[in-house]
Amino acid sequence: MTEPEPSTVAALAADAPSTKQSVDPYNVSGEIGADGIAKAIDYSKLVEEFGTKKILDEDLKRFEEVTGHKPHRFMRRGIVFSHRDLNLILDRHERGEPFFLYTGRGPSSDSMHIGHTIPFDFTKYLQDVFDVPLIIMMTDDEKYIFGGPERTIEAVQSYTRTNVKDIISAGFDPKKTFIFSDFDFMGGAFYRNVARMSKHITLNVARAVFGFNESSNIGKIHFGAIQGATSFASSFPHIFGDDESITTQIPCLIPCAIDQDPYFRMTRDVAARLHFAKPALIHSSFLDALQGPGTKMSASIESSAIFMKDSAKDIKSKINKYAFSGGQMTVEEHREKGGNADVDVSYLYLRFFMEDDEELARIKKEYETGKLLTGELKALCIQHLQEYVKAFQDRRERVTDETVQDFMAQKRLVFSGNPNAKVALNEGGETGLEGKMGEVKVEEKTKNQLKKEAKEKAIAEKKAAKEASKAKETE
Ligand code: TRP
Repeated sequence: MTEPEPSTVAALAADAPSTKQSVDPYNVSGEIGADGIAKAIDYSKLVEEFGTKKILDEDLKRFEEVTGHKPHRFMRRGIVFSHRDLNLILDRHERGEPFFLYTGRGPSSDSMHIGHTIPFDFTKYLQDVFDVPLIIMMTDDEKYIFGGPERTIEAVQSYTRTNVKDIISAGFDPKKTFIFSDFDFMGGAFYRNVARMSKHITLNVARAVFGFNESSNIGKIHFGAIQGATSFASSFPHIFGDDESITTQIPCLIPCAIDQDPYFRMTRDVAARLHFAKPALIHSSFLDALQGPGTKMSASIESSAIFMKDSAKDIKSKINKYAFSGGQMTVEEHREKGGNADVDVSYLYLRFFMEDDEELARIKKEYETGKLLTGELKALCIQHLQEYVKAFQDRRERVTDETVQDFMAQKRLVFSGNPNAKVALNEGGETGLEGKMGEVKVEEKTKNQLKKEAKEKAIAEKKAAKEASKAKETE
C-alpha cells in the first residue's frame, strides 16, 4: 500500500477538534481513530443525527417515473444520498406546479478542485431534468465575515468573479440561471426576506445550530438569515413577479453537500412560521482527498486534490504519487489476495466520474480478485480525470466577461417546467406566473383539478339555489 505522508494526513485532519465525527458548515472531519488517523465520514449517522431521509431505491424509481430521466450516477451510487421533501418536489413537477433550484458557493479562493464541481455537476443535471429556474448564490459576505483578519472584501469579490466563471463552466443554461453576489444583490425584496428571517432567529437558536459563542462576531450570527432568505421565491421578483400571495408559496429544491443542512434546517423552521413554502433539499457526500477516506480536499494543499486548472500531466503525476491505494504490497500478493476497492482512491474517483455502471462493476470485481493491478487501476482513473478536467477547461475557455454579465443580470428567465404536466402553467390562473413558466400548452386537466372544479361548481350551484329560494321567500 502507498502510505500517505503522515504530516499531510495530520494537516488534512487538522480541523478536527474532537475525536468524534463532526460535520457542520464550517468544519467537516471524520472520527479520529485511536491511531490518530481520521476515519471515513459515516453518512448514515448523519442522516440520523440531522433527521433527514435516506434516498431509497423506491425514491429513485419514482424520480425516474416522474421525470422520465435515469437518475444521475451520483444518485444511483449513493453519492447523493439523503433528502428533505424531495417527494413533494416530485409531486409538484408531476402536476406542473412551479418550483426552482437553489445552490451556492462561498468564494474563498481562486482554485476550485474537483470536489467543488460535484454539487454543480449535479445541479446542472437537475436543471436539464426539471427545466426550472436556477439561482446560484455567491456568499462573498460569508467568506469575508468568517475569514481570518487578513481576508479583505476586495479579495472575496475577486474570488466571486473567477469562481462564477468556473461555476458557469459546469454547463448551466443562461436563459434559466441567475447568479448573484450577496454584496451586490443585497437590498429590495431579498433584504426584506433577510429581515423576516432574522426576526425569527434568536441568539439561542443560532448558537445551538451553528455552535457560536460569546466571541463569535455578530456577522456570523446573522449570516444564516441571508443564506436562508435565498430559499424564498419572493426574494426574486424579477423572476417570479411581485405578488407575494403567489411567490411565498413557490418552494425551491436545494442540491448541496450535507454540511450545509444546518442552514436549511433552520430556514425550514422559520419558513413554517412565516407561512412560506419550506425549501426541499437533496444532499451529496464529499469526495475524499487523494490521501484516502477520512481526509478532505483542501484548496490550499496542492497534493490533496486534483484542481480544475491541473494539466493532464499534473493529474497523472498526482494520482501516481499521492492517490491512496487499496492494493497489496507486491504483485504476487495482489494477484493472490486482491485489492480493497472501498479504500482505494482511484476506484473512489472512478465511482464519482465514470458514467458506465457495468464497466465500473467490472473494474471493482477485477480489482478485488487481483486480476487488475493498482497501476492499471490508476491508469484508468488518470484517463477519466484527464477527460473530465479537459472538458471543463474547454468550456471554461469559452466563458467571457460578457457571459458572466449575462448570468448575473436581473433578467426574466425562460423555462417550461414539465412539458408532460397536465396543469396549465402559463395562462395566469392557477400559478399566477403569467407567461413565465414558458411555452407550456395544456390540453388536459388533472383529476384533482377536475374534482376541485366540480366541487366549486356544486358549491356555486347550491349557493345560487339558496339565494333563489331566499329571493322567493322575500317576494
Ligand atoms: N455556504 C456555502 C459555502 O460556503 C455557500 C452556499 C450558499 C450554498 N447557499 C447555498 C451551498 C446553497 C449550497 C446550497 O460554500
